[in-house]
Amino acid sequence: MEARHHQVPTDEKALLEELSSAFRAHFGEKAARLFFAPSRINIIGEHIDYNGGNVFPCALTIGTYALAAPNEENALRLYSLNLDAENTATLPLNEEKAPDDWTGYVLGVFHALEQKGLKPVGLDIAVAGNIPNGSGLSSSASLELLCGVIAEALFEKTTDETLTRLDLVEAGVWCENEYLGVHTGIMDQYVIGFGKAGHAMRLDTAAKQHEYVPLELEAKGACILVLNTNKRRELKDSKYNERRAECATALKELNRLLREKGEAPREFLCDFSEDELNWLDGLDPVIAKRARHVITENARVQAMIDAFADSRLEDAGQILNDGHRSLRDDYEVTGPHLDAIVEAAQSAEGCYGARMTGAGFGGCAIALVRQDAVDAVIAHIKKIYAEKTDRTAECLISLAGDGAGERVVAAN
Ligand code: GLA
Repeated sequence: MEARHHQVPTDEKALLEELSSAFRAHFGEKAARLFFAPSRINIIGEHIDYNGGNVFPCALTIGTYALAAPNEENALRLYSLNLDAENTATLPLNEEKAPDDWTGYVLGVFHALEQKGLKPVGLDIAVAGNIPNGSGLSSSASLELLCGVIAEALFEKTTDETLTRLDLVEAGVWCENEYLGVHTGIMDQYVIGFGKAGHAMRLDTAAKQHEYVPLELEAKGACILVLNTNKRRELKDSKYNERRAECATALKELNRLLREKGEAPREFLCDFSEDELNWLDGLDPVIAKRARHVITENARVQAMIDAFADSRLEDAGQILNDGHRSLRDDYEVTGPHLDAIVEAAQSAEGCYGARMTGAGFGGCAIALVRQDAVDAVIAHIKKIYAEKTDRTAECLISLAGDGAGERVVAAN
């Protein structure tokens, strides 16, 4: 999303106070309902959610908040505190070209949900988020699911069918893929929709099913740090769609080989195992590298879940390091800032391992760190990163939070 114009407080209480007075200033004195959708990190399993893989993300406690109330205007009046921007969309919504600003995420989700039996009604909505800007922690999917839960609570139901959580997730994915033309997978919307405090999830992106995995990091004497490179990441201008197309080519080529051997074609690149990596030898070298990342990354997800379960943190750290190497050398989505911050973390005493998280090309990395070494690790990362790049690193301890929903205490 675009650059921020207003520094929204990161502290929840202060943020809600500001949001509440902004709501009153723009829409007048009336009762509004409060909604929240988190951001996310992915612990491991990168760029495989569109290849039928398993991924291992968790929702965070930072995210996007909204106050929403019905109006008599037959229009959606939308205000963003972060951007200090107000927009109005009159009803019924027209399905033409998506607006080229933050309201594209809002209207895209509302369009998708209208198809699923939720008719938009006049609403005043004020939004504010405390996700670091352009950080690749999924501020767009957070906004999408926020709009999903608002629509679920306040739009008019035109069908008897029960709207499921997966419907909200898929509305967010439709908004990205069809409305905005960014061919992302399902991971971000899914974990933001289904996240659970204290837990990550093993998400099977082919079956669209998940299983919660307790993180229990404190009991293990560890924590996960989120490391922001402060190098903005935009999916729209990234090579995301190009990587996706390369994966489709790899699958086509591998299926051609299967057919030549008289075997049935497979649906996803992640249906190939590490034992079959030698099949990549005959492929175009670039396509082979992309496929090697996907196949090895899928195997790393289970290895990571097992390492966490057995409290083998050294092994977990090694898997993170291997994942980063694969994203850097085979998938080529890291870049100098992510490499610098990850190397800074990896060289810190008390850090088990680190890797980029999310789409790449800037944004954030994560590091698995010994709890008693957190302050020293952060100081080390900040120092080395400042020496190696033109930016400063921002480091925060990540806390696994709940998925999107209404918050019971209204803030105004
Ligand atoms: C972005 C996309 C996700 C996923 C990740 C990479 O965050 O939105 O669907 O593909 O990149 O793992």
